[in-house]
Amino acid sequence: MARTCLSLILAAGEGTRMRSSLPKVLHEVANIPMLSHVMRVCSAVQSDKVAVVVGKGSEVVGEVVKNENATASVHVQTERLGTAHATLAAREALEHDSDDVLVLFGDTPLLTPETLWKMREVLAEGVCVVVVGFYANDPTGYGRLLEEGDKLLAIREHAEATEEERKVEFCNGGIMGFSGENALALLDAVDNKNAKGEYYLTDVVEIANSMGLSVKALEAPEAELIGVNTRNGLAEVEELWQKTARENLMTLGVTMQAPHTVFLSADTVIEPDVELEPNVVFGPKVIVKSGSKIKAFSHIEGAVIGEHADIGPFARIRPGTELSSGAKVGNFVEVKNALVHEGAKINHLTYVGDAEIGSKTNIGAGTITCNYDGMNKHKTTIGAGAFIGSNSSLVAPVKIGDGAYVASGSVITEDVPGNALGIGRGRQSNKEGMGEEIRARNAALKAERSAK
Ligand code: UD1
Ligand code: CA
Repeated sequence: MARTCLSLILAAGEGTRMRSSLPKVLHEVANIPMLSHVMRVCSAVQSDKVAVVVGKGSEVVGEVVKNENATASVHVQTERLGTAHATLAAREALEHDSDDVLVLFGDTPLLTPETLWKMREVLAEGVCVVVVGFYANDPTGYGRLLEEGDKLLAIREHAEATEEERKVEFCNGGIMGFSGENALALLDAVDNKNAKGEYYLTDVVEIANSMGLSVKALEAPEAELIGVNTRNGLAEVEELWQKTARENLMTLGVTMQAPHTVFLSADTVIEPDVELEPNVVFGPKVIVKSGSKIKAFSHIEGAVIGEHADIGPFARIRPGTELSSGAKVGNFVEVKNALVHEGAKINHLTYVGDAEIGSKTNIGAGTITCNYDGMNKHKTTIGAGAFIGSNSSLVAPVKIGDGAYVASGSVITEDVPGNALGIGRGRQSNKEGMGEEIRARNAALKAERSAK
């Protein structure tokens, strides 16, 4: 039988140093809240239950939790009395007899499933408390892990540590695992007799030792345990997240000419043999299929880019867009909520919104789908093999049939049947010799004015 697991996330951060009206854990890394990152790691280690402790008045945090995982429970810590007190706010969840209990923080978005799996392995070996530590470049402010052999004796908070203890560089990352059997008893035994008058989660280590239970520390990379407290910290974590994500994609076969200029979202999917030029931004929900090329300064969100598509430079692809294989979207083109079939080309200076464009159709420079009447959106449907002349306005709702032409500069307000030519503009007429006449008239006016 697989061991059951409860992941308990403390997310009652005040976030005052973010100087934000948004709760700290909802600030985003890779376009999803930090808390969602942590929750996804919990899912990745097959947590049967996820419990999140939020602060008083943080209903918005509860909503994010439910969106991320409808079965997760939300618990409110009404007073901020320390990490052990916060953990006990989820008493109901702790009473559920999980084999493993992982206590995590909602502001450490770089945490990986590997570390949580290691914690679960240690617990499976019969250890009662496992603490994740790291070697800090600067240990100031962190709890120190005091070991004897492979036994963890205590975690000494910086505020209580002696000079000698402060020299210890092995620090508490904040993340702890408990055997479910002992978790509640250990937490209930924590008191608040310390420098800060808080109920420290870390006291559990000494309590477990005094009860003769085994306690161990596990090492993880410092970067994984970074807790975000400020906007600067958020940017630092974003940078690390992006770096890792880019490296992973390159390992999987994606080319990036200037990796440090490419921005990804947590859910960006890019298949092998995609080439990315510098300065490409991926907003949420993008899939790019194999063989596509995305040229410099393109911004893509909510879109599926088919195989061997060619995007940019300076393209903007917005939500609801699906480009089929071999489609081309060139410079200064915006595409929104549109289905663009195989091999269609939208090369220059165009807006295509709420539209379907048939295969091999060519959309001339400066074409605009007029999809909005000020209140409602309307659809433009263009068939296969059609040709839309440059600088045309297609006033939706409107349909252009297969193989149809639209004359340049047209304002198309009525459907154009298949293989027809739609012209919607004034007819051209040439006045012979009129050029000379105009020049003479203008010269006379100029002379008259300079004489005054
Ligand atoms: C904690 C650890 C310290 C460790 C450090 C790593 C304790 C007592 N200390 O210290 O050993 O080195 O993390 O970053 O655990 N929280 C609540 N309710 C509370 C208090 C805290 O939800 O009443 C949450 C916070 O939002 C935060 C987390 O618990 O996400 C940690 O609390 P924080 O006050 O930042 O602890 P540190 O002093 O950083
Ligand atoms: Ca902290």
